[in-house]
Amino acid sequence: MELTDMFGLNDQVAVVTGGASGIGAATAELLASAGASVVIGDIDGDGAQRTAEKIAAEGRRAVALRTDTTKRADVDALVGRAVSEYGRLDIMANVAGVGHAQPVRDITEEDFDRLMAINLKGVLFGCQAALEVMIPQKSGSILNVASTVIDSPYPNQGLYGMTKAGVTFMSQVLAAEAGPHGIRVNVLAPGATPTNFASFRYPGGKIDPEREKAVQDSMRQMTPLQFIGDAGDQAAMILFLVSPASRWVSGNIFRVNGGQSRPW
Ligand SMILES: NC(=O)c1ccc[n+]([C@@H]2O[C@H](COP(=O)([O-])OP(=O)(O)OC[C@H]3O[C@@H](n4cnc5c(N)ncnc54)[C@H](O)[C@@H]3O)[C@@H](O)[C@H]2O)c1
Repeated sequence: MELTDMFGLNDQVAVVTGGASGIGAATAELLASAGASVVIGDIDGDGAQRTAEKIAAEGRRAVALRTDTTKRADVDALVGRAVSEYGRLDIMANVAGVGHAQPVRDITEEDFDRLMAINLKGVLFGCQAALEVMIPQKSGSILNVASTVIDSPYPNQGLYGMTKAGVTFMSQVLAAEAGPHGIRVNVLAPGATPTNFASFRYPGGKIDPEREKAVQDSMRQMTPLQFIGDAGDQAAMILFLVSPASRWVSGNIFRVNGGQSRPW
């Protein structure tokens, strides 16, 4: 295969959830620059629209739809938009998610239901909606985002880790079920990456500079490569995992984390 055939996405259609910000926005932009038509879903409808406009301004194709991934009807509508707008669905990137830090002892039923709904149920709905199009099409690539937390049972990450361990396990099972239909399923496990997700930000995106420095110093220390990657590093792995270059790759977990290989 030529390089452009391996990594090019011309004539392909991608849905990216969480595309208003961070890793999802970087992914939507990179897939579009590789040639894909992109449908961006996010609960932050204005942010999703901004990402779509940025892509369109570069001469690529993208549309946005406000989507709450905890609602099956919203996710079905998002995938439906890909088919009505561009005629097919080749790539489903389930990126939307939220962080959560709390000792196991303090987790309330409300916390549990909220995190499970956003981080696990939303990904399940995304996979199911994609399969409805990809199975008859006999092709497709699904990419689900977990986290380095799946390897690191460190304090306060019990609930977040449960959701991401669930995403990882479900994805591996789905890879076994969907493979015979020509559909690949893989997992990205990002290390700590500065986005709106990072814990040094307050709600609304305001940054506490002291906390930011402390968090970044500790991120650097636990990273053998000793620098902090960015959302583009995560998007680059996603591009590989949804492109023809990875056609024989399925059911695997890809850790993009500067070389971190042991629990924090
Ligand atoms: N940034 C990190 O350090 C890091 C590390 C490991 C894993 N992750 C995972 O990467 C993914 C992307 O996170 P990010 O770092 O880009 O964070 P981010 O906060 O910048 O982006 C997350 C996006 O998800 C959207 N979202 C939240 N709830 C939603 C819902 N119910 N429906 C639709 N959209 C919703 C948000 O509006 C936001 O645009 C998440 O799944 C996160 O768990 C991030």
